[in-house]
Order: sequence, then structure tokens, then C-alpha cells
Amino acid sequence: MSSAARYGSRYTGKVAWVSGGASGLGEACCLRLAGEGAQVVVADIDEAAAQATANALCADGHKAIAMHCDVTDFESVEKAIQATSGKFGRLDLAVNNAGIAGVLTDIVQYPIETWNKVIAINLNGVFHGLRAQIPVMVKQGGGAIVNMASLLGTVGFAGASAYCAAKHAVIGITKTAALEFGGAKVRINAVCPSFIKTPLTLASIPEGPAWVEIAAKHALNRCAEPQEVAAMVAFLGSGEAGYLTGAAYLVDGGYTAV
Ligand code: NAI
Repeated sequence: MSSAARYGSRYTGKVAWVSGGASGLGEACCLRLAGEGAQVVVADIDEAAAQATANALCADGHKAIAMHCDVTDFESVEKAIQATSGKFGRLDLAVNNAGIAGVLTDIVQYPIETWNKVIAINLNGVFHGLRAQIPVMVKQGGGAIVNMASLLGTVGFAGASAYCAAKHAVIGITKTAALEFGGAKVRINAVCPSFIKTPLTLASIPEGPAWVEIAAKHALNRCAEPQEVAAMVAFLGSGEAGYLTGAAYLVDGGYTAV
């Protein structure tokens, strides 16, 4: 079955930029958006991995390029966004997805250096993205931005103070930016996935019984697949979500239903 037959073609003629697009959820977003017809820009600090993702997409007949971007550095993000709109003439969807987990330890023990790194990537990275992307979208008459928050942007999680702080703040900045630029037809939302096996989570939670325990905390008794998050991102960025802005959407398999 062709991608268009499987997913539809909501992104034909559209340009989508995904930070952290070389791995995990970002890679799944690139795959989904390209599968729906988008010209995708895989932006990542790991340029070789971004290139591999773009190459794989092109080999499948999709439109993708790789781009180096360090979301902790505003100039790097602005350069990548300007290069995208310069090359393709527009930017319809930006997904501010790049993120790291930090360490799992209580606040008293939490290393200050790790705290600063988590905030720099997971929070400042989203601020830098919004700051660079919104002017391009305002100028072209509108656009959509999806920020990757987390279930841990809505609840606490012992041991993950920096991550929880950054993700709660991502939801706050999402709502604020939506209020500031809704009048300019820029829709800005956040997605809040629960636990998904990617390099980010597998680094601190190795395969094994811990994942069975985590799965049991979800009403659906399983963890999500990256594709299930990408489906929400693709929906939020599309015209079908034209009335949605300033909100955070859980993709949590019922984790918070208790
Ligand atoms: P991942 O580790 O598979 O991918 C993260 C990507 O971000 C990598 O390609 C990495 O090179 C890139 N990256 C790291 N620092 C960067 C920087 N400074 N500039 C640009 N790119 C950078 O992680 P995963 O799991 O796909 O996470 C993606 C996002 O989803 C993160 O924001 C994470 O917090 C969020 N998330 C993940 C969940 C999970 O269970 N995996 C659950 C909820 C949210």
C-alpha cells in the first residue's frame, strides 16, 4: 500500500521541519509527515544520523533533507529555519521535538550541570524554535507548531525534576505563544506522550521487567509506539486541526485516567 493510501496526503505541497528528527519520536514524525507528502527537513545535532534518516526517506520515494541544528543555540536554530524557508519558500509545520532525559535522582542529589543541560535542550530549545519559526509563519500568513512536551509535563515523577520542570514549562510557553500569535493564524500546541521505548528512555530503563511495570500503569496495559505519537503530531499540524491551539494533548494510553 502506498503512503498516501495508508495515511492520506494532508501535507502535499507543505514543508515540515522537525528538530531531533534523526531518532525516536522525531524520526517517526519525519516518516509520517513525509508519508503524507511533506517536504521534510530532518534537523538534528547529530548530522550523520539526520542524513541517514533523510536518505532512508528519499530511498522510499519521499522528499527529505538533513540539516545540522543545535537547539541550545538560538543562532543555530535561526540559521536552520532561515535555510528551510529560503530553500523551500515556506514553513508550514515546525515540530520542536529535540530532547534528553537527564538523570534519575532526587533534587538534592541532582547534578547542577545536568539540570542546566536538560533545561538548555528541553526548554530553551523550544523557546529558540518558537522565536525563529513564528516570524516566518507570520510573514507567510500562518502555520502550525507542535512542541514535544511529555506526560511528565502534566504530572511529577520522582527522580526527574529537571525533565518535569522543563516539560511543564514547555506547556506554559506553548499556551503563551498561542495567545500571542493566534491572531496571526499561527497555531501552537503541545503533545504529551507517556513512556515509549527509544534511545532516550532505554538509556535509563533497560529492556526487562521495568517496562512490564511501566506498561501496567497504562489503562491500555502497554506503552505507545512512536508512530502513535507521530499520528497526533501530523493531525495537530494539519488543516483538520484548524481550530486547535494553545493546548497540550496527552498521548498516554490512559496513564492519567486514574
Ligand atoms: P531520542 O533520544 O530517540 O531522540 C532525540 C533526538 O534529539 C536525537 O536524535 C538527538 O540527537 C537529538 N538532540 C539531542 N540534543 C539536541 C540538540 N541540542 N539539538 C538538536 N537535536 C538534539 O529521544 P525521543 O525519545 O525520541 O525523544 C524525543 C522527544 O520526545 C524529547 O523531547 C522527549 O523528551 C520527548 N518524549 C519522549 C518520551 C519517551 O518515552 N521516549 C515520552 C514523552 C516525551
